[in-house]
Amino acid sequence: MNIFNQHSILNDFIDQNQTVGLVPTMGALHKGHMSLIERALNENDQVIVTVFVNPTQFEDLNDLKKYPKNLYDDVKMIEKVSPKIIIYAPESNDLYESSIISSSYEFGDIENIMEGNIRVGHFQGVATIVEKLLTLLLPTNAYFGEKDFQQLLIIKSLVVQKKISTAIIGCPIYRDNNGLALSSRNSFLSESEKNKAPFIFEQLKIARSLWGIESAKTIIKRIKNSFLSNHNFKLDYFEIRFENNLLNAEKKSEKKVRAFIAAKLGKIRLIDNLALDEF
Ligand code: PAF
Repeated sequence: MNIFNQHSILNDFIDQNQTVGLVPTMGALHKGHMSLIERALNENDQVIVTVFVNPTQFEDLNDLKKYPKNLYDDVKMIEKVSPKIIIYAPESNDLYESSIISSSYEFGDIENIMEGNIRVGHFQGVATIVEKLLTLLLPTNAYFGEKDFQQLLIIKSLVVQKKISTAIIGCPIYRDNNGLALSSRNSFLSESEKNKAPFIFEQLKIARSLWGIESAKTIIKRIKNSFLSNHNFKLDYFEIRFENNLLNAEKKSEKKVRAFIAAKLGKIRLIDNLALDEF
């Protein structure tokens, strides 16, 4: 395997005449990440997977400390897909030098709602690391999961603002058979919590089945009530918003809409979303 912890050495290894697909991750890889890596392999001559738990996107230090890390397992999983994949797993100083702080960006309304409202400063940290990775590694394409749909829009806005030529490619959410969206944080769920977790996707599907029949306001009320009567969860938000600008949608129109949800199951915070117009 080609594993690098310094971007300068990695850059010498990359053939700049070939296309490069980048899959940025924080490690603890699962099948969702693997689906991004496979897509990148299909669409590019070379693929770089970055494994870096980015400190500036954690507003809660405890969360950062507890974030699952296992580079050995990550490398094994990547190797199985293709030993040609290049892994970049740096220490903080290769990306942040001496001061581990976010740069400052203006994303307007898409930043301060939902995840940005609850995790203040989170998207400034995400944008900081993604800008660093894109400008240092100069990939042709970069792949991000739609599970973090708000993050995907932030990154699309980032590349426009910074005139970065990398194409940002959103990839569908990878779900377990029971509907649970895969996430590195799922490894913290107990067996009994894993059985309860599909409730989130069930509620999203209920919202989808009602879209076009009831208004967003009525659907939101209904879903909030379901969470109130399920004591396993504490709902952070359930919202119905347009895909392109994340403004609130009121009723079905020709514009694409998604339902977004974040809820705590025990100590673990889960997020998910579903396009309401696609079946
Ligand atoms: O989605 C993630 O895993 C992270 O936010 C990312 C994009 C790798 C930046 O650290």
